[in-house]
Amino acid sequence: MGKTVLITGATGGLGEAFARVFAHEGYDLLLVARDQQKLDALARLLTVARPVEVKTLAIPDLASPGAAARVVEFTEREHTDVDVLVNNAGFGDYGPFAESSLDRQVEMIDLNVRTLTELTYWYLGPMLDRDEGRILNVASVAAFMPGPLMSTYFATKAYVLSFSEALATELKHTGVTCTALCPGPTSTGFWNAAGTQTSSLFSSISYASPDDVARFGFISMMNGRAVAIPGAGTRLLAHAVRLLPRSVVRNATYALMK
Ligand SMILES: NC(=O)c1ccc[n+]([C@@H]2O[C@H](COP(=O)([O-])OP(=O)(O)OC[C@H]3O[C@@H](n4cnc5c(N)ncnc54)[C@H](OP(=O)(O)O)[C@@H]3O)[C@@H](O)[C@H]2O)c1
Repeated sequence: MGKTVLITGATGGLGEAFARVFAHEGYDLLLVARDQQKLDALARLLTVARPVEVKTLAIPDLASPGAAARVVEFTEREHTDVDVLVNNAGFGDYGPFAESSLDRQVEMIDLNVRTLTELTYWYLGPMLDRDEGRILNVASVAAFMPGPLMSTYFATKAYVLSFSEALATELKHTGVTCTALCPGPTSTGFWNAAGTQTSSLFSSISYASPDDVARFGFISMMNGRAVAIPGAGTRLLAHAVRLLPRSVVRNATYALMK
């Protein structure tokens, strides 16, 4: 097929699931993550299973200034057109904002917002020149509400949703699409990394499978959907919070997150 997808945060959870889905669909892959050994292991697994080409780029911290530019330099050096960009890398941090590490909050904004925006900017131009391309930005159901105890994370995902929807509208009469994927809780390393172990909510809810969410994201992206919310319960929640007063939503979210 000769199409290439670039996936950030490809070595775990949803990113790895995206890599499997795109490989299954015959895409060549450019996988970006922090750990070269994990990238090599994933590349081996994917190429054994499918006749696809996999290139990898390990970047110690995709949140650091200049990281997006390094990714772009890599694809230019490899003379590879990015037909699909999946901005997946991201993390959260659980706890009261005042007690959190400011460095961690800023790193989160840098990764979830700045790097996503920069990569979208740099790959959108060539996609428009070719009048063909797809951008899949991983937001969250968190994008639809304020999130006490994960305040920065929810706010970063609100940015991703708003930015992606606006971009999808600007791109309407072009061959390029932008999709915001808004998963509910999904069974990945995200929750441990965010430190949610002390919250009763996260030990009691059910989690979607990353493979199901990635497959749903792929299909929605191919259909040119601006916003894609996997799972009936998650869709219901996203729509319900729009109808309720914001004070009800933020207080209910706080009560649940504690
Ligand atoms: N899991 C959920 O319930 C859920 C729900 C809605 C949205 N999401 C979103 O889905 C996306 C993927 O998360 P996940 O659930 O798959 O979590 P995950 O298993 O923790 O994977 C996150 C990925 O991002 C990478 N990453 C984190 N910080 C990084 C950094 N500073 N530089 C480079 N890479 C970094 C991780 O790399 P390492 O392997 O090197 O740590 C990993 O590959 C995130 O944007 C998250 O916000 C998740």
